[in-house]
Amino acid sequence: VRVDNSRRLDFDEPPFTQISTVPSARRLNPIEKPTTFDFEGRSISAHPDESVAVALFAEGEGILSRSVKYHRPRSFFCLSGNCGACLLRIDGQPNQKACRTQVREGQRVERQNAFPSGSFDIFGATDVLFSRGMDPHTLLTGSRPLNALMKQVVRQFAGFGRLPDPRSESAPLPTTEVRRVDVVVIGGGPAGLACATTLARSGQKVLLVHQERHLGGSLLTDPDFGPETARSIAEDAQRAGVESATQSVALAYYPEDRISDGAPPGLLAVATPSGLWKLSARRYVYATGTYDRNAVFGNNDRPGIFAARAVGRLLVSHHVLVGQRPIVIGDGPYARALTDALSSAGAAANRIDGARCRPITAYGRDWVRGLEVEEDGVRKRLPTDAIAVAALPAPATELPREHGVTVEFRPEAGGFACRVDDVGRSPDSKGVFVCGDAAGFLGPLRAQEAGRRTGEAVAKDLQGEQP
Ligand code: FES
Repeated sequence: VRVDNSRRLDFDEPPFTQISTVPSARRLNPIEKPTTFDFEGRSISAHPDESVAVALFAEGEGILSRSVKYHRPRSFFCLSGNCGACLLRIDGQPNQKACRTQVREGQRVERQNAFPSGSFDIFGATDVLFSRGMDPHTLLTGSRPLNALMKQVVRQFAGFGRLPDPRSESAPLPTTEVRRVDVVVIGGGPAGLACATTLARSGQKVLLVHQERHLGGSLLTDPDFGPETARSIAEDAQRAGVESATQSVALAYYPEDRISDGAPPGLLAVATPSGLWKLSARRYVYATGTYDRNAVFGNNDRPGIFAARAVGRLLVSHHVLVGQRPIVIGDGPYARALTDALSSAGAAANRIDGARCRPITAYGRDWVRGLEVEEDGVRKRLPTDAIAVAALPAPATELPREHGVTVEFRPEAGGFACRVDDVGRSPDSKGVFVCGDAAGFLGPLRAQEAGRRTGEAVAKDLQGEQP
């Protein structure tokens, strides 16, 4: 949503400001054995288990990138690899997701698409000069020479990042491996873990593909569960015999391709840290979860406005407190639990329900400073240094759709959700199941139960069938 930015001209801030300060992000635990990396000449100490985004934020570097067109400052939003707000140049590779890149000793991290530097971007002027929006296709079209010049300028500035540094000669090429399993479960959150464990206990050979480093999904962001619960459920899965491939991304399903000559059609491509897998399974279970969404209000892209689950992840998994005066927007159990957890950690946390008291616009240029809200027809400004939006997440349906699953629009389930029966079986694609939040947002406990039911149904399906 493009908001009316003209209101920003009333701000008492200069149009270009030195960035990045995160006034009040705070580590709750000291780092015992830090990993150190370079961020544009500054040495950053991080916990070895952190991502680059978390480490930078905890050390006061809030601005990670600039929007491609208006060069508006961006921090992270989702911390789960889905929004693209955190792209940085890391070790000479452009457009790396900082929230998905683990810190490494000696790493080189830089911001991109800013001139002359990441901390002072002169192209931020675009956002001020074109506060009501800019259409480069029609800009200066009144004059042919000026329009030709404008085209050159626009072409020069289009795109994101610079080409990678040349690969070193010794860098190994990724390998390709063919895999065949009984069941592949994509997604290692509560539903995927429960499904995989149930299947493994019934004797099936199960591969669990999960894009993050740690299994647990939304459990790792939830103050009611957290990393201990996630670890114990993951250990149960391992004990049951589940093979898990973490930091591995299921890229796409190709119905027309085969893993080898004579194999049945259908191939799932999985990118793993060691190379590409061409994978075939007798049953496919998609437990792909949901995407965090923002709420609609003015300046909702300002740095300091985060998905609530990102704020939860910072607190629960990384012991980083997002700010001193955070506002949580939302009325569900997660918004309430997060507000309580932030308060217990020492923040003066405030919560608005988002409906009766609704957000109108955020204030602040390089970091959020306040939120204007409307309640009973009365508007007021609440000071804040971080906003956590707990909007209903949207089901992640791309992969199951590639595999023939249809979706249906159910607003109460988060939007377009996979159409499956009560055990997660797709009526549209043989051998394909969807469980947990991808079939409509449920929350961790109900997603876990749904995963278990799907695991039992898949196991029953496979009984007596020739491998
Ligand atoms: S993709 Fe990194 S914060 Fe969303």
